[in-house]
Order: sequence, then C-alpha cells, then structure tokens
Amino acid sequence: MTESQEHQTSGNYPPPKNSINPDTDLGWIKRLLPVARSHRKPMIIGVCVGSVALILNVAVPAIAKEAIDSTIAGNREELTVWALILIVVGLGRFVTGALYRISLFRVAWGVETDLRALLYSHLTKLSFSYFDRTQSGQVISRANSDIRSIQVLLAFGPLIGMSIISFILAFCFMMTIHIPLTMVALSTLPGVYFFGQKLRHSVFPLTWVSQARLAELATIVDENINGTRVVKSFAAEKQQISLLQKAARHIEWVNVQTIKERAKFNPVIEALPRIGMAIVLLYGGLLAIDGQVSIGTLFAFNAYVIMLQAPFRMFGFLLLQTQRASASASRIFEVLDEKPEITDLPTAVKITEVRDSIRFQNVNFSYSGSQSLDPAKGSRARSEIITNLDLSISAGETIAIVGMTGSGKSTVARLLTRFYDVNSGSILIDDVDIKRIQLHSLRQQIGIVFDEPFLFSTSISENISYGKPDASEAEIVEAARKAQALGFITDLESGFSTVVGERGYTLSGGQRQRIALARCLLEKPSVLILDDATSAIDVGVESLIHESLKTSLEETTTLLIAQRVSTIALADRIVFLEGGAISDEGSHSSLLSRNAAYAAIIAESNPETVKEIS
Ligand SMILES: Nc1ncnc2c1ncn2[C@@H]1O[C@H](COP(=O)(O)OP(=O)(O)O)[C@@H](O)[C@H]1O
Ligand SMILES: [Mg+2]
Repeated sequence: MTESQEHQTSGNYPPPKNSINPDTDLGWIKRLLPVARSHRKPMIIGVCVGSVALILNVAVPAIAKEAIDSTIAGNREELTVWALILIVVGLGRFVTGALYRISLFRVAWGVETDLRALLYSHLTKLSFSYFDRTQSGQVISRANSDIRSIQVLLAFGPLIGMSIISFILAFCFMMTIHIPLTMVALSTLPGVYFFGQKLRHSVFPLTWVSQARLAELATIVDENINGTRVVKSFAAEKQQISLLQKAARHIEWVNVQTIKERAKFNPVIEALPRIGMAIVLLYGGLLAIDGQVSIGTLFAFNAYVIMLQAPFRMFGFLLLQTQRASASASRIFEVLDEKPEITDLPTAVKITEVRDSIRFQNVNFSYSGSQSLDPAKGSRARSEIITNLDLSISAGETIAIVGMTGSGKSTVARLLTRFYDVNSGSILIDDVDIKRIQLHSLRQQIGIVFDEPFLFSTSISENISYGKPDASEAEIVEAARKAQALGFITDLESGFSTVVGERGYTLSGGQRQRIALARCLLEKPSVLILDDATSAIDVGVESLIHESLKTSLEETTTLLIAQRVSTIALADRIVFLEGGAISDEGSHSSLLSRNAAYAAIIAESNPETVKEIS
C-alpha cells in the first residue's frame, strides 16, 4: 500500500465504539460512561493490578520493620528471609505499578481520543446556522482544553483514590501497633492538606488567567500570520509586534506570580512531613528506650509519614479537578447535544437528475441570527431576507439573478442546496419538496461555485478531484480545460501536482475561481450555480469559459448570479431580485429599457459598457 492510499483508507482508524449517553438529565459521569466502557479491558486490568500494587506498597515499611527487628534480635535466618521478601515485594511493586499506570493512561487517552473524534464528527454534521452563531474556532480550541481536563481526571483520579485507600490501610496497620504514636506521626498531615489548599486557592485563578492570556497570544499570532497580507500592506508590522510583546509580557507576569505563590507555600508543605519525622523520632525514641515499641516500628512509622503525605497533598487537587472536569464535560456535551437542524427524513428519496423544473413557491426566509444583527432597530421581528419569492426554472434553462448587494441572491442559492431551510413556502425539484430529498443526492446534483472559493493546501489535481477522489487524470484535465484553467496549470512548473499554498494563496483570484469551477464541473452536476464565480476572471477568459460551458452544459440547468453584462448576456432569462422577491423579469435589453433600478445596477457594475452604449 502506498503512502497516499494509506491516507485515504479510514479502516485503519475506526471511529469510537460508543457515544455519550444522550439523556441530558443524567450526571456527567453517567453520560460519559458508555465512552469509558469501550475501554473496559485496560480498566479492569488497571483495577486488579492497582489493588495488588497498593497492598505491596503499604507492605514495604511493615516488612522493613520486621527485618530491622530481626537484626536487633540477632536472628540471622529471619533477617535473610525478610530481606528476600522485601526484594520480591519491591520487584512486584515495580511491575504492578508500571502496569497499573499504563492501563490507567490507556483508558484516559482512549477516552480523550474518542471524545475528540465524537466532537469533530458532530461538528461536521451541524448546520450552517450553528456556525453562524458560534465561533467555531473557539469551540475547537476550548474543546481541546476541556477534553484534556477530563483526561487528567481519568488518569490521576484513580491514582489519587488508590493513595487514599493506601492511607487507610497503613493507618489501620499503625493503629494496631501503637495508637498514640500513630496520632503523633500523622499530626502534621492535616497541615499538608491545609497549606496545599491555600496554595491551590492562590494558584488556581492564576492558571485561568494564564490560559486566557495564552489564548489571546495565539489569536494575535494567528491573525498576524493569516492576515499577513493586510499587515504588510498597511506597513503595520511594528504595531503587530508591540501587540504581541504586550501579550507576551502579560503571560510573563502571570507566570512570575504563579511561581511566587508556589515559592511561598511549597517549602512549608515539604517541611511539614520532616517535622513529623522528627516528632516520631523524639516521641517514638522515648517509647523505644522504655521498651514500648521496637526500633523497627520507629523506622516503619517514619516511612509512613513520608508515604502518607501524598494523599493529603493530592486530595484537594482531586476535588478541584473533579469540578473542572464536570464543567468541561458540560461544555463538551453542549456541543454534542446540539441537534443538526438539516437532516434527512427517514422517507427521503434519492434524485439522480433534474428532469422537469425547479420551483420556489411563496418562499420566506430569514437568518435566525439576523434579528440580533441590528440592535438599534429594537424590534424583535426577524428581518426577512426572502419574502414571498416565486420562481420557476425549467430543466436545462440558464437564468441570471440580478440584484443589489445584500438583496439575497446568494441566499437563494443557499436555500436551494439546503444550507438553510426555508421558514415557509417550499422549494420543489420535479415537484418533490427538497426537504423530502436525500441531502447527499441533492447536493450531488447541485454544483455551486462561490466568488471566494476555498482551496485546500493540496495539489491542484487533488483540489479539482475533491468531490470525486477516484476521478481519472483525463477527467481532471477535461474539467480544467472546460474551466479554461488548463493553460495556466500546464504553465506551472509542476503542473497539476503543484501544491497550492495555504487556501490557495499562491494563485491569483481568477485562477482560484477557475480551479473551483473545474472542481464543480468534474462532478457533472444537473444544476450549476455560479455565484459571482467568475468575478475575478478577465472578461476575455470569462467569455471563453462561457463558450465551453455553453456547449458542454447544454442540458445543465444553470443559475448565474452576476453583475457583468457579459455574464448576464448568456442567460435565457433574467430575474431581478428586489426586497427579497422578484420584482421583474425578462431579457437584458427589455429590462434595461423599462426598469430604471435594473439599469442603475448594471450601470454601476459595468461602467465601461455603459460608456460604450452612451
Ligand atoms: N449567515 C448569515 N447570517 C445572517 N445574515 C446573513 C447571513 N448571510 C447573509 N446575511 C444577510 O442576508 C442578506 C442577503 O445576503 P446575500 O444573500 O449574501 O446577498 P447577495 O448575495 O445578494 O449580496 C444580507 O443583508 C446579509 O447581511
Ligand atoms: Mg452574494
């Protein structure tokens, strides 16, 4: 298998087995359970091995105590036995500890990977309206830290839980030996918890500030790099650099504050168990002199004081991380619970062509966000973009939609492809409401080319064959030829394998438009929508494109959204869109002579032509 083939097969990367529980009334852990359950095997191994590790861990000081006491008693054989046991236990602890960590982190990373895949695949299903009202970039970057905080809890939560259990075990063991000495030995540990909490309370807000500032910095860097053309053309580099420096200084400040707080508390937290050791030595030593406890006990208690500070240090962290993970989970679930607005009905039918007609019947539409776009208006009424639109297009016809900027021309195209659903009225293809047509087949039949096409950072031929990855080379070349792109592509040093820069910026606007057109033509759609799609192409080349389109697209229903007379002239019929409805229609010359508003738009967008006419 070649490398590129490998990239295309998804079989090697199976999707997550389970999604989250859809019941929004459940708590976050219960909702997450199905995802965790698909990593059952490492989880079970982890719990079993972890329990063994735990017991061995607590056993070490107890065994050492016996060994020391045997030494003092002068019992050579017993000492050897205890020492051997200690070696075996030590080895066992090493192996189980390693296995335990590996399986725990397996589960944690597995859940993280699943959540990421679930979130991304869900985002791709969401409708345009969701992306209109959400900053998708933010959703994704926030999701990264949210997923991470759940992963951290899954990885460290059980570790901390285990250390709490080991505390209880050791505590019971110590109590059986000497109750007052146990109390003395553990007396400093609440202090560890107390100062640990204090440290967290002062550092936690700082970590939030730090995260926010890092995001700020990332935004500045991102805008600076992506907007580098604007920055350079306004010679605003200095301004950008000082912005960046300001953001970097802010981050420095937070980090210095954080380290100051840590420097204040950490030495105390580390000193407390040592003080505990000293007290054990003093009080325990006196007890030992009196013969009440053995020297081995003294040693074991000392070891426990150090070992048992861990749960006290980390318990607060566990509480905090649980809160964090719960907040993170609810943000992730918010996205996953978002229902895609535009989906297939179970009874949806497949279409393979447009035989007869496309009809808009009394269509009304408003973008759900547009009511809030103009707060000055104060009215809560949604501003209607399309009002009572009626339009009938016969199969094979070429029509042009002309209208002012913002009159809703692109919206008409978006409604036909169901990027958005109409508020009322209906759009019919061969008398079938498009809501009853399978989305995939609808969009396959309708090819749409936008004025600012998006190209991927891959080769030209991969960009052209995007909608049909198995297209042959001949098909790709043919599509490029029809879009009048063949000439400039073959002039490029690497031809069709030229990798276009980020978003195709290494190409001119007109070249990008022609590649986008070729990409669309390759799919041989029944309906072709050119939404200002040739606006950046020279008039001369454009007419060549139209020539080739005319012959090859005889049967294709074509919707031209354009202002240029040269483009409009291709249409069998022109409809004039005003105030969200069609106010007039006819041939170019008849509209020009009888409709002043139409003539004004044409004059505005075609100054040279009008000069020629007058
Ligand atoms: N995604 C959107 N959300 C809200 N309003 C939008 C959106 N897209 C376009 N609009 C608004 O709808 C109106 C029509 O836009 P559009 O159809 O793109 O016009 P045209 O293509 O004729 O220039 C404009 O007023 C525009 O501000
Ligand atoms: Mg438009």
